[in-house]
Amino acid sequence: MPKYSIHINGKVHDVDALEDMPLLWVLRDILGMKGTKFGCGKALCGACTVHLDDTAVRSCSVPVSAVGQGKVTTIEGLSEEGDHPLQQAWKKYIVPQCGYCQTGQIMNAAALLKGNPAPSEAQIEQAMQGNLCRCGTYNRIKQAIQSVTAGKLDNSAKEN
Ligand code: FES
Ligand code: FES
Repeated sequence: MPKYSIHINGKVHDVDALEDMPLLWVLRDILGMKGTKFGCGKALCGACTVHLDDTAVRSCSVPVSAVGQGKVTTIEGLSEEGDHPLQQAWKKYIVPQCGYCQTGQIMNAAALLKGNPAPSEAQIEQAMQGNLCRCGTYNRIKQAIQSVTAGKLDNSAKEN
């Protein structure tokens, strides 16, 4: 079985995996990093979103052999103490319901803000529309992102 050395969250992990094993399988089943979720397995829901060199990708559909020397960031590596501004905003706006989709939502939002620190409402909606939430937390997700893009976390969290 081929060996791959993958950069994840600032460390190199050596893994044995078939070349077509999805990165999501490597993260969850080989490395035990369970923050990234399996939803559809077909690049349709966004639950498995991680960053590959700062770009949001769907790890269920990225074969381990395609990662190469790319730098992977998962929700576990987004911030040292779980205090990325988006994570703070998620708490403030009480965004999660069941929570299942939320790591993918945060990782997708974080990639958006890296490329565009001040997206318009329309740009936020467009960037986030492919990340599905069965609990319907879309309004709170948008509010949380907007609180970060406004440069501060305001104190007036609104209800959906
Ligand atoms: S599990 Fe990857 S997009 Fe749904
Ligand atoms: S919070 Fe339940 S699926 Fe999004």
